[in-house]
Amino acid sequence: MNERDTLKINAKGHLEIGGADTVELVEKFGTPLYVFDELHIRNMMRVYKETIDKEYCGNGLVTYASKAFSCKAIYSIARSENIGIDVVSGGELYTAISAGFPADKIYMHGNNKLVSELELAVDNNIGTVIIDSFREAELLDNICKKRSVVQNVLIRINPGVEAHTHAFVQTARTDSKFGFSISDGTAEEITSYVLKKSNLRLRGYHCHIGSQIFEKQSFVLAAEKVMDFMALMKVKLDFTADTIDIGGGFGIWYNNEDPKLKLSDYAEYLKALICAIKSKAKVLGLNEPFLILEPGRSIVGEAGITLYTVGAIKDIAGIKKYIAVDGGMFDNPRYALYQSKYYALLANRANEDCTEKVTIAGKCCESGDLIAVDVPLPKAESGDILAVLSTGAYNYSMASNYNRNFIPPAVLVNAGETEYIIKPQTFEDIVRNDIIPERLK
Ligand SMILES: Cc1ncc(COP(=O)(O)O)c(C=O)c1O
Repeated sequence: MNERDTLKINAKGHLEIGGADTVELVEKFGTPLYVFDELHIRNMMRVYKETIDKEYCGNGLVTYASKAFSCKAIYSIARSENIGIDVVSGGELYTAISAGFPADKIYMHGNNKLVSELELAVDNNIGTVIIDSFREAELLDNICKKRSVVQNVLIRINPGVEAHTHAFVQTARTDSKFGFSISDGTAEEITSYVLKKSNLRLRGYHCHIGSQIFEKQSFVLAAEKVMDFMALMKVKLDFTADTIDIGGGFGIWYNNEDPKLKLSDYAEYLKALICAIKSKAKVLGLNEPFLILEPGRSIVGEAGITLYTVGAIKDIAGIKKYIAVDGGMFDNPRYALYQSKYYALLANRANEDCTEKVTIAGKCCESGDLIAVDVPLPKAESGDILAVLSTGAYNYSMASNYNRNFIPPAVLVNAGETEYIIKPQTFEDIVRNDIIPERLK
């Protein structure tokens, strides 16, 4: 157990999250249900913020990458923790603003931001837009001109470092729909282009090197490469960048193949990065840049679980046993998309030994609608409660109404207190936007 463990098994043999018994949660709210532990979320936001405050004299900002989980309540939590957010669409931006999130701490990303999204951003005076194409720079400059405002911007660049879980590679040329490559000269071209735009104020550079990363050195290397590029731009274009945004990607525990990190481990990642930035600044004769981080998954991922009720069980002798639940790829598409691995347990019989390996299937009309494959479980019965862990990130935010199933509601737990932060959908919600043209009636 470490201080981030939001989960425990209580005296009744039930799984608890944030002090709430999951069996009672299911009695009160039903299944499928997303459950989030507020303290866990806050602890993660704090560890990043406090490390920047302590190790870098507060010369930076943690911006929660809200693509991981976006709803009004999460923006309220981020606001009360005094951190920033990153948004990637008009929808995320609108949600944040309607939750009263301070606009100056909003960073907007996206490789193809729509004119309407850029207008929404400028009209709401958001802090920073991260430029991802020449077209966007042109559009944004024109939008700002019409309103006589100047917008702070960063440029997304590809430093030639790609990281995934336990390894990272240095690449000469980046094949990505995002950003501008340093190696092929386009990062320099866009810098020069943006510097000529009278209504854009270029502050520096952003990069994002991957996801689910446990390798500290990859962040260090990326930061060093971005800073080398800053030094180059100072010499070549007389441009002094004052901001470096190192993106997100810090890894979390999904199953026993992943390390279980403590809060102090996340602080260590950040300390190593800060240390490298400080010494690189000294070597290059640059001022220490304002540091932005964009953790998403590591803030909400382990804070969330999904609860399901076991329904049909199909045992194909000698081949496979399927345990079907009342959710599926419509609430968690990550197995279908990336064969992501999850840890599952029976929440109402959490102390029982696992006696078999099963495949957890959803209820959609798709053979690939699986949540987890070959997971050890005690012998499950219809009516058991199945908990899938670490579903706080990229589950609700990727959910859909496929097969016209309801996207499950979400409950926030705070020291045993439970309340909805996303209410259940109804059949009325499902047909809300449907129209039958007169001629079809
Ligand atoms: C630009 C950017 N920032 C931050 C993130 C968040 O990454 P993570 O949730 O892995 O921390 C992403 C994820 O795709 C991203 O693309």
